Amino acid sequence: MNSYIKKVDFFKGNDPEKIVEEYGSPLYVYNEDILRAHMRAVESVITKYPYTANYSIKANSNLEILKIALEEGLNCDAMSVGELKLLLMAGFPKERIFFVPNNVDESEFKFAYGQGIMTSLDSLSQLESFGKACPKARCAIRVNPGVGAGHHKKVVTAGKNTKFAISMDDIDEALEIAKKYNISIVGINQHIGSLFMTPEPYLDAVTNLLKVAERFENLEFIDFGGGYGIPYHKLDDEAEYDMASFKKRLEPILDDFVNRYGKAPLFKSEPGRYCVAESGVILGRVHATKDNAGVKYAGTDIGMNVLVRPSMYDSWHDIEIIRNGKVVSRSKLEEVTVTGNICESGDIIASKRMLPEIRKGDLACVLDAGAYGYSMASSYNCRPRPAEVMITSGGRVKLIRRREIFEDLVSMFI
Ligand code: LLP
Repeated sequence: MNSYIKKVDFFKGNDPEKIVEEYGSPLYVYNEDILRAHMRAVESVITKYPYTANYSIKANSNLEILKIALEEGLNCDAMSVGELKLLLMAGFPKERIFFVPNNVDESEFKFAYGQGIMTSLDSLSQLESFGKACPKARCAIRVNPGVGAGHHKKVVTAGKNTKFAISMDDIDEALEIAKKYNISIVGINQHIGSLFMTPEPYLDAVTNLLKVAERFENLEFIDFGGGYGIPYHKLDDEAEYDMASFKKRLEPILDDFVNRYGKAPLFKSEPGRYCVAESGVILGRVHATKDNAGVKYAGTDIGMNVLVRPSMYDSWHDIEIIRNGKVVSRSKLEEVTVTGNICESGDIIASKRMLPEIRKGDLACVLDAGAYGYSMASSYNCRPRPAEVMITSGGRVKLIRRREIFEDLVSMFI
């Protein structure tokens, strides 16, 4: 594909140069139509049985995006009291929020319990604390189905090497703890890791989790977690995650379980990346170019503080170059390393990448930045976080978070 931006008309006729002029660089830009389309796609993963998709807001917790998730009928999962409060602020009713924390103190359990929000406990030790803090409560437990998957070892959250979840061997003990505190385990959940493009590991994990489910008499829900991938190599024509074939293969596994269990509990999934990644890009200015030992560097203002994924996981993000508001053709490419403006040698967005010739003054447009982009941004090197704008379905450019300013950075000093 020569240009994703052009193919999907990402800016809907707006000139990216003008958008940056108005809102500054670097800048997160989202496309509402793409966002809504992805949110709708995850809602039909299971249609034969009662099902809800929980949007995992750690991927992107901009309030405007949460409001769109609410409108689209998604439920949400939260990892912290901060995320819970944000969801309540966005207008989510308590029944549509699922709290899936890890290693928290009892004040967080009490907050969720006080709001009537269902919580999942991810270790026997946390189950004990929850039982003490919220006796007689209803809750869920997070199970490690023994199979993990993900784009990098740092995002695999099940299997042998992980801090998450309760082992399948410890279910009896979990049931004993529940009995001791008179709490009811009414749901089980899992999350095996983030980003897989083939469904096998997820389907294996679902099969394992459903075996565990049979050990509980009256489960109200079973949550299979998130992790569906998106094509980060889209300019090389990488295919989308095949939802239709995934759905086809998932259904008989669910049929089997429902037959054995005698009823269908509510099934859930927890996609984050799939909902938001492709709907977001970052625009940033190229401020310098140089050659060092035969390597061409293009220095931008998209530092690891703005997008940490390439530095943290060596993640690939496609980049398009925009000059005078127009995407530069990829018909002639040269090797270039694209970096940010942060004081770290690892502050690299793309290493030795084949890109159209980059000139000082160009805009770099980093694709697929809607998930784990702004939500992982920081103010490292005292660089205020960028603004976020949304290209609405009507084609308007709408500011959905203002740029941080120096005063924000120092506002907590006493
Ligand atoms: N549910 C739970 C309990 C999770 O921990 C996560 C992600 C999700 C759902 C959503 O996973 P997704 O569908 O987005 O793959 N920062 C990393 C990804 C970390 C994911 C953490 N947990 C990255 O940028 O690739």
